[in-house]
Amino acid sequence: MNVSIIPIEPAMAEVAAALHAAVGFHEPWDARSFAELLGIEGTAGHLAMAGDEPVGLILWRVAADEAEILTVCTLPKRRRAGAGRMLMEAAITAVAAAGARRLLLEVAVDNTAAIGLYREFHFTDAGRRRGYYRTHGGPVDALILSKDV
Ligand SMILES: CC(C)(COP(=O)(O)OP(=O)(O)OC[C@H]1O[C@@H](n2cnc3c(N)ncnc32)[C@H](O)[C@@H]1OP(=O)(O)O)[C@@H](O)C(=O)NCCC(=O)NCCS
Repeated sequence: MNVSIIPIEPAMAEVAAALHAAVGFHEPWDARSFAELLGIEGTAGHLAMAGDEPVGLILWRVAADEAEILTVCTLPKRRRAGAGRMLMEAAITAVAAAGARRLLLEVAVDNTAAIGLYREFHFTDAGRRRGYYRTHGGPVDALILSKDV
């Protein structure tokens, strides 16, 4: 898959929401949420494009010298083809350029794919939130992972 990475503009909120809905999140974000987030200073994101098809996205927030990944996802049919890695690389470059020294994120303890992706970028354990995620199968802990950038 030939993937390119482009910035998400607030006008692309519908596209971002459609992608988020197609990924299978328990609580996907709607277009209004994306538009609001992308309007906040320090919050930005990228889309992964396979030709003219959006196949993944990442959003982050930078506040002073700390940044957080808010969401990252790839369409199920496009997984394991490098889009997630490219999105993470682009986000790490962007937050470092914006002045962040540390990048944080939260991930469900049972999310093997995402944890595999983050470990590839040498994120390490920074904490745990008990029962943070509500899922159909009951509450699931969140791992807090961090990385110096
Ligand atoms: C996590 C996610 C974004 C990964 O996206 P992706 O485009 O498939 O990732 P890549 O193809 O770039 O994979 C890069 C590396 O991550 C790791 N990885 C990805 N999927 C994995 C899996 N299912 N199991 C274990 N490791 C995995 C591997 O190290 C992989 O490298 P490799 O394929 O050379 O072995 C994707 O699975 C997804 O959208 N999941 C649902 C949404 C989600 O849970 N997001 C994170 C929480 S907000």
